[in-house]
Amino acid sequence: MTRGSLSCNMAAGSLPVALLVLLSRVSGFPLGQEEPKLTCGYESCHATKPNMLNVHLVPHTHDDVGWLKTVDQYYYGDRNDIQHAGVQYILDSVVDQLLKNPDRRFIYVETAFFYRWWKQQSPSMQQTVKELVNEGRLEFVNGGWCMSDEATTHYSAVIDQMTMGLRFLNETFGPCGRPRVAWHIDPFGHAREHASMFAQMGYDGFFFGRLDYQDRTRRQSAREQELLWRASDSLEPPMADLFTGILPNGYNPPEGFCWDQSCDDPPIRDDPDLEDYNVDDVVRRFLAIANHQAKVYKTNHIIMTMGSDFQYENANLWYKNLDKLIRYVNAQQADGVGVNVLYSTPSCYLQELHRANLTWALKTDDFFPYADAAHDYWTGYFTSRPALKRYERISNSNLQTCNQLEVLGGPVSRNGPFGKADSQTMKEAMAVAQHHDAVSGTEKQHVANDYARRLASGWQHCQVVVSNSLSALSGSSAERIYCDRLNISVCPLTESSEKFSVHVYNPLARPVTWPVRLPVNGSSYDVSDAEGRSVDCQVVPVSAQTAAVRRSRGFAVNELVFQAQAPPLGFTTYSVSLLRDGPPPASTQRRVPAAIQNQFLRVTFDPDTGLLSSLTNLETKRTIKLTQNFYWYNASDGHNSESDQPSGAYIFRPNSSTPFIISKTAKTESVQTPVLQEVRQWFAPWVSQVVRLHRDSRALELEWTVGPLPISDDLGKEVITRLDTSIKTSEYFYTDSNGREVLQRKKDFRPTWKLRQSEPIAGNYYPINSRAFIKDDVDQLTVVTDRSQGGGSIQNGSLEIMLHRRLLHDDVRGVAEPLNETSSVFPDGLVVRGRLLLSLDRPPSAADAHRPLAQQVVLQPTLTFTDGDLHPDTRLEFSGLQAALPPAVHLLTLTQWDEDSVLLRLEHQFQSGESKRNSGPVTVNLQKLFSTLEVLGGSELNLSANQWKDEMTRFHWTPQTGEEPLLKTLGDPSAWEVTLRPMEIRTFLLRVRLR
Ligand SMILES: *[C@@H]1O[C@H](CO)[C@@H](O)[C@H](O)[C@H]1NC(C)=O
Ligand SMILES: *[C@@H]1O[C@H](CO)[C@@H](O)[C@H](O)[C@H]1NC(C)=O
Ligand SMILES: [Zn+2]
Repeated sequence: MTRGSLSCNMAAGSLPVALLVLLSRVSGFPLGQEEPKLTCGYESCHATKPNMLNVHLVPHTHDDVGWLKTVDQYYYGDRNDIQHAGVQYILDSVVDQLLKNPDRRFIYVETAFFYRWWKQQSPSMQQTVKELVNEGRLEFVNGGWCMSDEATTHYSAVIDQMTMGLRFLNETFGPCGRPRVAWHIDPFGHAREHASMFAQMGYDGFFFGRLDYQDRTRRQSAREQELLWRASDSLEPPMADLFTGILPNGYNPPEGFCWDQSCDDPPIRDDPDLEDYNVDDVVRRFLAIANHQAKVYKTNHIIMTMGSDFQYENANLWYKNLDKLIRYVNAQQADGVGVNVLYSTPSCYLQELHRANLTWALKTDDFFPYADAAHDYWTGYFTSRPALKRYERISNSNLQTCNQLEVLGGPVSRNGPFGKADSQTMKEAMAVAQHHDAVSGTEKQHVANDYARRLASGWQHCQVVVSNSLSALSGSSAERIYCDRLNISVCPLTESSEKFSVHVYNPLARPVTWPVRLPVNGSSYDVSDAEGRSVDCQVVPVSAQTAAVRRSRGFAVNELVFQAQAPPLGFTTYSVSLLRDGPPPASTQRRVPAAIQNQFLRVTFDPDTGLLSSLTNLETKRTIKLTQNFYWYNASDGHNSESDQPSGAYIFRPNSSTPFIISKTAKTESVQTPVLQEVRQWFAPWVSQVVRLHRDSRALELEWTVGPLPISDDLGKEVITRLDTSIKTSEYFYTDSNGREVLQRKKDFRPTWKLRQSEPIAGNYYPINSRAFIKDDVDQLTVVTDRSQGGGSIQNGSLEIMLHRRLLHDDVRGVAEPLNETSSVFPDGLVVRGRLLLSLDRPPSAADAHRPLAQQVVLQPTLTFTDGDLHPDTRLEFSGLQAALPPAVHLLTLTQWDEDSVLLRLEHQFQSGESKRNSGPVTVNLQKLFSTLEVLGGSELNLSANQWKDEMTRFHWTPQTGEEPLLKTLGDPSAWEVTLRPMEIRTFLLRVRLR
């Protein structure tokens, strides 16, 4: 039962009061029962000494949720021939050692592993662990399912994976299981949007290990390794303020103090009667390191991370030596040494920093790109494994559809005509895929395959949910067929059937128009919509490039194209039937057309080269020069005069700043019809593109197909597409942060330190998660991507995006494999296909175009098919909403939480000042949202749904600017009417009932 259980069948007028009561009610223990005294969290910290240097020793393990081994192999300690690592033994051993000495502390981070372990423990062991947690001896930090990557993840999937991990911790351990600190010790650069999300999830502070080496040097001398990150331009401070600390040694122990079984440092030999007594030496070395470290931090507290990758499998080694270290160093206090060593946790350390009551440097940009040396920019992984990156992104879309339909269809979705299933498998697969060696593309090949397999299996489960739900909502139990390879024109049903239906489910809370493109073998079809009206459609020949990519997996000669219009959070149905004597398919022309155009855009081509030459917005009457072509950088093989760093899965290091052009001209073929116009460009056997304009589209589509990248010349290749325009960019360009707020970038520049640029290309690359743009006073060209990619603006007016990489050398960051992807279908190297959507706007209103466009690519319609005629009683159209949400509001989450409640997240999808029309506050009535769900009660939660909003308190931190945050409480008009301000996400648990 949720907190909303008190309400709510009253008359409309009294509802707000009822909900207000709910919103302020404190959850807790049944009346008359004492709340057990818990001393976890800040209260359980060991005492420190105000007049000494306090050294916080933090025993920890860093357990990658897949990297060199799969997540399951890591859990069991399987395949120790690849890497010696077994998380189950780590947790066994640590719990055992914690029980031996109540002073000892341990933190655990990755809930994906902890959950696996917990399920296998006996009730008495579970009880023991609960006591350790309740006493603060075992503390969870971060607590998401994994430690997500920050450069290549989308906020929607990050919020989901954090929610899943934190929910398990809350439900298992209650308030003592709630992490106070976010902990991203390994991700390779840090996104501002992650900081913003962590702040909204209620964390008091954040620690990480990796930042640019030049930035670190400056921060050390300025004592700015601890700072206040103001992570949003739109959210009112301190909503997105996050205290951020940079760890002293990555996440490793100081040199000479690694006592894991995987390390070789000398143990503390403290029996004076035995050989090699070394206590004096150990104490002397430790004090030297501590005093040195204290010089680069602000307070008389410092932190040392005592652990590393998969350490503590035999925790006795660590703890036995740490016990002694603490005892012998602190014994020196009697002789006047002012150093106090203690077992601690990140939150205990954070509490001391907070007590110091200082002011902290304010930061408003991000920590990209990350370089650990002059020629070692970790900007390759922004693009590494582009096929996995796309599969992860579309899997998120599928999961959101699955979640929504699980709610809208009711219990029959989980147990219906097509079987029993739920969204949990897909949720876990997506959560694991957010790990910083998963979607980042920095894992071994067999591990990448495992992530993809998990997503595929999750989607299998979700297909049952979707089929059950759609069957309930439409009243038709016809079998649903899924075609996941429409992008390469493969769908056995549409290829052979003469009559079938296409069901288009739209997961967005506003209607969408979406181009449907189906492989067919007939030459003429009738397509009619849910009202029985004929829809304009077109049959076009399958291109030679598409036939080449699909290899032997399909045989359609044509594609049927039409524009589908689907209602908000709902579906519509199109019936397709083969016409015996209809018009023939569109013919293709060899000659490049001078232009293609629809009512919104006009695109011209250079008749000599076949390349794009200009783009015009016909509404604003603005034209820019636009040429676009494909190039490749020659990846460094490590044999280079300046550095021996090769390009690899993590690192981008071209051998030269001038990329090779693949072809100066494109062979072309065009199709021009009233429904769509496309120019198919062929650059090389491994590079082709379709420039496509749909009839009602305000965006130009560039569908690129790249691969297999040739390597017979023994040169690693990193392929880019480059748009060169007449826009006067003055070295600036813009990229999104995890798909949300946009950050300004400038060539060879960092906002908070003076950059010495040593890699003119790689050092100017940034992550692009969903969009990038270039602009001047009059024109803005926005490029919306279909997955995370890396890119930069190296020349004025130019924007380049890296599409695919094939490399022949490992980049010596541990993965120990070159990034050289092949598969059984593509033994000669992966072929990758994707889309860029281009929109040309006037800068003040550009967001009105690119925000909805990007959401439409992130949450794309899910198509299902049924063969033959539908039963006449079938419901052909449905919307789960009473009305479309206002343009500024995005429905981010709708998912079943428990039997009778659902989790809802509403998001204001514009930044403040970004749009004249859409950047204002907007109010939504929760009770008037759904068409088929009655909302009985509700409560508001923090972003990660593990704390009631009204119980959320965070440490207050003061920036050096001295200014005090406004702390305005911005009320809602009434309890059911909630107001969203720019970039705000609000999370609700709603008790609902199907009407
Ligand atoms: C923190 O510092 C401020 C300004 O220096 C001071 O007014 C305040 O009393 C201090 N608070 C505590 C708890 O020491
Ligand atoms: C946390 O878990 C407890 C125990 O299961 C539950 O009663 C409470 O509602 C949960 N809190 C939140 C915010 O979900
Ligand atoms: Zn890691």
